[in-house]
Amino acid sequence: MDKNRRPEDMARINSPALAKKFISEQLEALKKQIGDGKVLLALSGGVDSSVVAALLIQAIGKQLVCVHVNHGLLREGEPEQVIRVFRNELDANLIYVDAVDRFLDKLAGVTDPEEKRKIIGKEFIDVFAEEAAKQDGIRFLAQGTIYPDILESEGVKAHHNVGGLPPELNFELVEPVKFLYKDEVRVVGKELGLPDSMVYRQPFPGPGLGVRCPGAITRERLAAVRASDAILREEFAKNGLEGKVWQYFTVVPDFKSTGIRDGKRCFEWPVIIRAVNSIDATSASIEPIPYELLSHLADRIVSEVPGVNRVLYDISKKPVATIEYE
Ligand code: XMP
Repeated sequence: MDKNRRPEDMARINSPALAKKFISEQLEALKKQIGDGKVLLALSGGVDSSVVAALLIQAIGKQLVCVHVNHGLLREGEPEQVIRVFRNELDANLIYVDAVDRFLDKLAGVTDPEEKRKIIGKEFIDVFAEEAAKQDGIRFLAQGTIYPDILESEGVKAHHNVGGLPPELNFELVEPVKFLYKDEVRVVGKELGLPDSMVYRQPFPGPGLGVRCPGAITRERLAAVRASDAILREEFAKNGLEGKVWQYFTVVPDFKSTGIRDGKRCFEWPVIIRAVNSIDATSASIEPIPYELLSHLADRIVSEVPGVNRVLYDISKKPVATIEYE
């Protein structure tokens, strides 16, 4: 049997009962594989790594060392949620690394999208490897690889992810959800008691808000992306669109236009709203946001987000336009 192929007789995990069974089998397998060894995990707060963390916490408790790297490109409230759920509620061994300045300094002035991705990926690996080097006796590396990662890219996490850890770390891999599809990971996560906001999280790119701040990232424009994204998410949740729309976010392009604020001309950025539906991200259609909500979003964003005087609504399908802007 190919150890990278899902067993043909494996049932689709689509109910709490099947999730329970999967969890108890995995707990046993994890205990057997790991024994009294120590395991390292890069915990982003995304669905896959969170489910792996929750499984390992149940299986081996404090033998798991989770590392959450804040690269400064996370959404509002994300690092806090990781700390709250994993350190405070699940009592995990969690190392929080504030690498915000380090990433933003490296990214300053870099305009090329691929170059930005490369810097974020390399810096992430460097920060993680430095944290790994501080730990004694780590034998295993846990990863949130899921089955589509194996099928699409030979086990490399997400086709254009910033993930991928240094081979020289030389750990034995622990990949408890590698045969699961995304919907199954969510059912398992729910059964493990993770909050809905984590389990049903919309897709979020590895380079984070960095790809929504096209061109050279500045702290000011990044703050505008983060604040407008938070307003969009809050309003989608209030209006029953959270969990219904596949992916929604804001982008702040690198140009300014004229406005009038307090009787004076101002030059400020626009915020672009993007909300799409998709099955597998290869194509996407537009979510028709009700006009009343769009208008309310525009009012809130121009009055609450510093440096923004316009709101635009992107109605471009994929193809031709990709979902993200970079
Ligand atoms: P595009 O923009 O190519 O995006 O239509 C398709 C899906 O992939 C996500 N995406 C990324 N995910 N690293 C990731 O992990 C990336 O660099 C990246 N770029 C895009 C995007 O959010 C969408 O869901």
